[in-house]
Amino acid sequence: MRGVQKRLDTGVTDNEYRRRERADSFQSVVSRRKVVVGGISLAATGFFGSRFVTEAQEKGGTPGPSLIGFQPVLKEQARGSWPVISEDYAFQVFHAWGEPIAPGFPEFVHPVTAARQAVQLGAGHDGMHFFPIDGSRRGLLALNHEFAKTQVVIGKQDPTSLDEVRAVQHAHGVSITEIASEEGEWRTVASARARRIHVNTPVTLSGPAAGHELLSTSRAPLLGTLNNCANGNTPWNTYLTCEENFHIYFGADAASDWKPNQGQQRYGLSGTDGSYMWHRHDPRFYLASEEHRGEENRFGWVVEIDPFDPTRVPVKRTALGRFRHEGVAVTEGKDGRVVAYMGDDARHEYIYKFVSSGNWRAMRAGGVSPLDEGQLYVARFNEDGTGNWLPLSREQRGLQEHFKDQAEVLVFARQAADLLEATPMDRPEWAVVAPDGSVYCTLTNNSKREVANAANPNAPNPHGHIVRWKDADDHVGTTFAWNLFIVCADTHETEASFSSPDGLWADPEGRLFIATDGGQQEGMNDQLLVADTSTGEVRRLFSSVSDGEITGFAVTPDRRTMFVNIQHPGDGDIANTDFPRIGTSPVPRDATVAIWRKDGRVVGA
Ligand code: FEO
Ligand code: CA
Ligand code: CA
Repeated sequence: MRGVQKRLDTGVTDNEYRRRERADSFQSVVSRRKVVVGGISLAATGFFGSRFVTEAQEKGGTPGPSLIGFQPVLKEQARGSWPVISEDYAFQVFHAWGEPIAPGFPEFVHPVTAARQAVQLGAGHDGMHFFPIDGSRRGLLALNHEFAKTQVVIGKQDPTSLDEVRAVQHAHGVSITEIASEEGEWRTVASARARRIHVNTPVTLSGPAAGHELLSTSRAPLLGTLNNCANGNTPWNTYLTCEENFHIYFGADAASDWKPNQGQQRYGLSGTDGSYMWHRHDPRFYLASEEHRGEENRFGWVVEIDPFDPTRVPVKRTALGRFRHEGVAVTEGKDGRVVAYMGDDARHEYIYKFVSSGNWRAMRAGGVSPLDEGQLYVARFNEDGTGNWLPLSREQRGLQEHFKDQAEVLVFARQAADLLEATPMDRPEWAVVAPDGSVYCTLTNNSKREVANAANPNAPNPHGHIVRWKDADDHVGTTFAWNLFIVCADTHETEASFSSPDGLWADPEGRLFIATDGGQQEGMNDQLLVADTSTGEVRRLFSSVSDGEITGFAVTPDRRTMFVNIQHPGDGDIANTDFPRIGTSPVPRDATVAIWRKDGRVVGA
């Protein structure tokens, strides 16, 4: 818990702050807590009950009608071994790990084999996107498979052969499937576009680091994508999948004299044991292998996939930098430049953005990917509510002596960001661009924070918060104004209590959908909440099963169906939950949940 550290914005201790919260009126509390930001009008951030208020309300105005009309799932309901949804909504579970990517492919049998798993849905469902084919009734679902617990997938603690390693590897990656709503149910349907992309699928690299010696591209073929966490999608209708904790798949045995160099250390490659033990059977993941030197530098990228063309090879876009990419929120900024916001999910890591060098339509017309040429920046959050985007360019002071060329800056973006004195954050997870141009980013938690700052106000920070900012010059400027949208600990005495925010999605009307990952209060499972960003109201729409994180958002164009995932239900233990109740299985399975409002209005209303 937060103890008695000083609030940066109020100068009072937490205990004193709580006493005042209980005693004072809503608006006066908010006024004291308001983070003043220079030049840009952003809503105040105070919480009381489950609400915060806007600046207009502080000046005596009244909030508009709420965007959220559903009956919330109550705290006491948000427990147990099966999901719970608002009484105004219904849901359907489908698309479970191990199901065939289309009718006719092998059905799920536990444990999986390498051959079957390569044409079945992977595990660890995470980010996803719905690409419409027939309006809101049929489309391609691109779905990330972030991780696959070995014990769950093959029924063993560690793999004992290359074939078992392959089975687990094939449970990672991305699935492209075609789904349709037929007779009121969502189903996977036959499709020439259905495919799996996994750890052994051919891929390619583009941008400034392509072909660089650090990535050993001349020695061995480029294969695979790993730990595919959150996602993005481009204005030209492609899918972006983000490689997060790639370091956990690499290892070296104690007998080797392998020692991490500085760059490997900075990316968490300690080497004594890859937690997946792949390195014992697959030399690609053996850090001491000379043949595969630099293999780890081929991961930690944003990967572009064309879901409509299964012959197109996935492309790792190196201009967006290498780090533990959580997700990528893409928008169109000034002059049609494409802008991508990205978090690096580790304690004390950074928030980044990429701005293309030109108008994305013109670049594509000229045969250049807008994700290959542009500038990568890292964020510095100043104490006064202003911020700076610092260019990760070798031309910046201090970088030339550390990096031989710009490719090295991108491969070791974390170290370049260190040198530029970016602001270390409390595990940046998803970012999303709201319709008013504000960008929201979840800082999920940071148990190791010892010194608070304005943008990370709790030390330690076990419950997380959400920061938001607005960039100058329609997303392409190098300054921004920011404030704190929600400090999760402030919700705990309310019905909208939540911790560890992770997934985010913003709808066009001003609703913010928040998915959590672990550590909920009062025995609650992970949950999906909806915030009205103009009134500050927050309600719980859906709650997960025990030990099952809620991940990913995909939405049909009419917004009448939202898909979310339940990841690692029961932490893989059938004693905790028999989710998803599809066929028979000795272990619970990740699956997708389709959610809709019973009265046919948009999801979130
Ligand atoms: Fe893959 Fe940081 O969650
Ligand atoms: Ca996450
Ligand atoms: Ca998380």
